[in-house]
Amino acid sequence: MIINLLSQDLQSVSKNTKDGIYVTFSFSSEGKDKKVSILNKDLNKRLDRAVQTSQITGKKYEVAFYKELSFEAFNHVLVLGLGDKSELEHEVLRQAIASAYEAFKSLKSENVFIDLNTLNLKKEKAEYVKTLVEGLELASYEFTELKSKPKEKSKKKEEGQTVHILLKEAKSSEVKKAFEEGLILAKSVNFSRYLGDMPGNKMTPEILAQKTLEAIKGTKIKATVWNKARIIKEKMGGLLGVSLGSSQEPRFIILEYNGAAKSKKPVVFVGKGLTFDSGGISLKPSASMEEMKYDMCGGANVIGTLIAIAKLGLKVNAIGLIPSSENMPGPSATKPGDVLTCRNGKTFEVNNTDAEGRLILSDALAYATEQKPEVIIDAATLTGAMVVALGNLYTGYFTRYKQLKDKIEVAGKKSGEWVWNMPLCDFHVQDMKGTYADLSNMSSSKGAGSSTAAAFLEQFVGEDIPWAHFDIAGTGWAVGSRIKYCTRKGASGAMVRTFVEIAKSYEK
Ligand code: BES
Ligand code: ZN
Ligand code: ZN
Repeated sequence: MIINLLSQDLQSVSKNTKDGIYVTFSFSSEGKDKKVSILNKDLNKRLDRAVQTSQITGKKYEVAFYKELSFEAFNHVLVLGLGDKSELEHEVLRQAIASAYEAFKSLKSENVFIDLNTLNLKKEKAEYVKTLVEGLELASYEFTELKSKPKEKSKKKEEGQTVHILLKEAKSSEVKKAFEEGLILAKSVNFSRYLGDMPGNKMTPEILAQKTLEAIKGTKIKATVWNKARIIKEKMGGLLGVSLGSSQEPRFIILEYNGAAKSKKPVVFVGKGLTFDSGGISLKPSASMEEMKYDMCGGANVIGTLIAIAKLGLKVNAIGLIPSSENMPGPSATKPGDVLTCRNGKTFEVNNTDAEGRLILSDALAYATEQKPEVIIDAATLTGAMVVALGNLYTGYFTRYKQLKDKIEVAGKKSGEWVWNMPLCDFHVQDMKGTYADLSNMSSSKGAGSSTAAAFLEQFVGEDIPWAHFDIAGTGWAVGSRIKYCTRKGASGAMVRTFVEIAKSYEK
């Protein structure tokens, strides 16, 4: 799919086209004087019967598709329901357009015209364009690389339809910028999803590093990749210890982007890049173990975040850190009871080798601290307890910094992703004290597994550095059809959009 922005209206487009799908919207107002309105006046008249017979109700996400209707120069018409006009918000449009995409993508028309003029937006025109582009681009993501291809597709077929957004103000710089931003964000999210969806045998730490290097070509990101020898030299005992049971070597990926003065402290993002989590010696049960290829989603999403920040040219200095390893039960694997030493000198007992995320993150957080950052933000598919607590819609985050919490809440509102503040206090820290070493990777108490995991991570973040941890165990991959622009089972790219918003809040 190609998305295009046109500063035209229906009549002028109609002169130059012979085919295509015309998309307009409908609203329904609830209450006593229930009213359905199709926003294109001519269509409102023409489809009056459809309204009378409730074929069109205007309710949210309703896709009323009229094929071969011959309206103006268009063969087909799609009326997209947006619900109550007074309740129109960005997420409604983002999801609605994704539903429309599902409907029109298989039709043989090469051109689709979304008439945003009919929405008659009074304010936030640019923001709605951004939302529309995001919804379309996110909905178009498919992971097909590993399916055998029956026939060579022509380039035109490969690219698919062209979707034109019609908006008279399309030439304004604000609208153009929003259009580009939506595209960059959604493409970055889709790249993260691609990394996550790739199975473990085709997404080892080495391949993850290589794919990252390819993806950042042409951006201002500088990348450094540490191999096993360097990881040993750098005293990253957690990352090394987790990798010992695997034949695949670990990697530590460092991405640096300088969009502001050198003197400005960096915003550091850290992501868990566990390319397959079998549990190690504390082996996981077989049921759903295949899903553990997604255990690198935190890392993938940090990579997507850095790419988006660089392509948007944000005026910040940003660093992305991805400790990457497999967690396998090979003959040299770390055993329950073993003691490892983190880069910052702290020691920990590994009482359950399946609690490995916190071990590889410990070194990365210690390294992040050394960068004297403005803030550290991490993302990890860290605990099953998070899935139990919040499911797959809300991402739980932990922070003890009020100002950062406020920034995260604002960022979540702006990005349209759902975040929920979780508890983290000194009692959780106490639960993670070790018997033979400074810390244990298992809590001594029952319950609150996500909070105690966060408390463990906190031990590797320098004092007074604002830090937030996002546990994306539930949201890192989509399980059903709840969010319309992410309906298929697979990696979701959760938090990329929110992290970019957080980075923006550190501009100036
Ligand atoms: N990668 C898992 C967490 C996970 C579980 C992510 C389910 C997504 C879905 C993590 O490494 C893990 O296994 N954590 C253990 C920790 C426990 C042993 C303290 C868990 O949550 O069971
Ligand atoms: Zn694990
Ligand atoms: Zn894991």
